[in-house]
Amino acid sequence: MSNNTRTIGFIGAGNMPQSILGGMIKGGYPASSIIVSNPSRPKLDMLEEKYGLFTSQDNHEIAAKSDVIVLSVKPQLMRDVCEDLQKHVPDLDKKLIITIAAGLRMESYYEYFSENIALVRVMPNTPSLVGEGVSGLVADSNTTEADRDFVTQVFDYVGITIWLQDEDAIDVLGAVAGSGPAYFFEFMHSLQRAAEDLGFNSEQARAMVQQTCLGAAKMASESELSLVDLRKQVTSKGGSTAKGVEVYQQAELNDISKRAVAAAVARNQEMAKLF
Ligand SMILES: NC(=O)c1ccc[n+]([C@@H]2O[C@H](COP(=O)([O-])OP(=O)(O)OC[C@H]3O[C@@H](n4cnc5c(N)ncnc54)[C@H](OP(=O)(O)O)[C@@H]3O)[C@@H](O)[C@H]2O)c1
Repeated sequence: MSNNTRTIGFIGAGNMPQSILGGMIKGGYPASSIIVSNPSRPKLDMLEEKYGLFTSQDNHEIAAKSDVIVLSVKPQLMRDVCEDLQKHVPDLDKKLIITIAAGLRMESYYEYFSENIALVRVMPNTPSLVGEGVSGLVADSNTTEADRDFVTQVFDYVGITIWLQDEDAIDVLGAVAGSGPAYFFEFMHSLQRAAEDLGFNSEQARAMVQQTCLGAAKMASESELSLVDLRKQVTSKGGSTAKGVEVYQQAELNDISKRAVAAAVARNQEMAKLF
């Protein structure tokens, strides 16, 4: 898969970049082409020991040595980190810049750097931490097709990638895939409680629910059938599943999902204005 190898430098060594670079190495990307900076040593020491990566406490050094810079600090630190790089690292507009920070819009990065940078904004979701993520990606017109292929390759290592037309779509993807794990946990917990109410202990109830969820997701991802047809396939007319599904349908599940996503999109748009 690593037919497209560039030196990629992560600025910030938190959970998300660790998952991404871990997925890259597991997928065959050469560890010698991955470098990382972080202000404190412990995570860097761990990455050196675990993968033999080149690390530094100096963001300038990592950014200068990189063909591709992945900005992986918290959104509230982004301005300081980027303006500092802009001041000290030459030729940033000859590199590809990827940001994974939630909420910050692309126009902010043009303000921190310049309008000449080649920028891709990526919104990974938390299941990327276990290699089953969904990443929404938007590229600006300064990027090349080879740049976009490279970014696809990087984020495919930790799940699937979905290219989006504009940043508004990132807010929607965030409300579905970013917030989605929480919706599923909420639903799973409600099923667990229903099983507990009918006599199961919490361990058995949870095991039953999470394995069913995993099995259903696997069936959905391996099947060409629509989700409606898959549901019909396990719902015999007049049977017990039909009775259960009827209760969900009467509770207007479609409407509940629509309202939940709309509420999360609105909040994403509000939060984008905070930066
Ligand atoms: N985690 C997720 O599920 C998720 C999902 C989507 C997007 N994201 C985005 O991913 C980015 C990173 O998130 P995370 O979960 O990896 O955060 P995290 O685990 O809290 O890690 C943040 C890292 O940034 C380092 N840092 C602090 N100041 C720095 C500086 N000036 N220069 C370089 N590094 C610095 C911290 O170092 P110290 O340990 O030394 O303080 C820490 O290692 C965020 O922008 C977040 O919005 C995360």
